[in-house]
Amino acid sequence: MKIVILMGSPNRKGSTAMLVGHFVNGATEAGHDCEVVDVCHMDIHPCTGCVRCGYEGPCVQKDDMQAVRAKLLQCDMVVFATPLYYYGMSAQLKMVVDRFCAFNSSLNSRRLKSALLTVAWNAADWTFDALTAHYKTLVRYIRLRDMGMVLGYGCGTTGMTRSSGYPEAAYRLGKGL
Ligand SMILES: Cc1cc2nc3c(=O)[nH]c(=O)nc-3n(C[C@H](O)[C@H](O)[C@H](O)COP(=O)(O)O)c2cc1C
Repeated sequence: MKIVILMGSPNRKGSTAMLVGHFVNGATEAGHDCEVVDVCHMDIHPCTGCVRCGYEGPCVQKDDMQAVRAKLLQCDMVVFATPLYYYGMSAQLKMVVDRFCAFNSSLNSRRLKSALLTVAWNAADWTFDALTAHYKTLVRYIRLRDMGMVLGYGCGTTGMTRSSGYPEAAYRLGKGL
């Protein structure tokens, strides 16, 4: 299976990256082909809402989203990886999700598998309520097939994350695919 990981943390060596690395190790060992797409360091701009795409067509913005779009339409699974920012996904990742607008129907018809990898400082039980509600809504709307979520409670620093069970959980999620 071809897996595209949308890496939504600007920290290349942070806690989100740690989960992504362990997920990739597991999935690669299971025979899958993983590509981490570092969306935070690409030239990707917010949707302008012009709808010249007609919700399915070329976007007027000729930026790196063209490459991300091609990758998503050729893969079997998409992984949303993000630190928790004000109880949602990072703006960098949300920008990519909003740009799905221009290939909404073709993305829908792919019936991609999906997963969520995320970390937060907070460890309260409600920490991920808003993010998981959003993710589950995307799964429903885009007709994704959710394969699992790793919700890293109390992962405020790489030290906290390393000593938690979440890297192992990400590895197992990848390995079990
Ligand atoms: C802009 C910003 C917003 C954040 N918002 C939250 C939040 O709402 N809740 C929370 O628990 N942690 C929040 N955090 C903490 C991060 O989610 C946490 O430190 C995470 O481990 C960072 O991941 P990274 O190492 O991949 O950057 C925030 C951090 C930043 C920089």
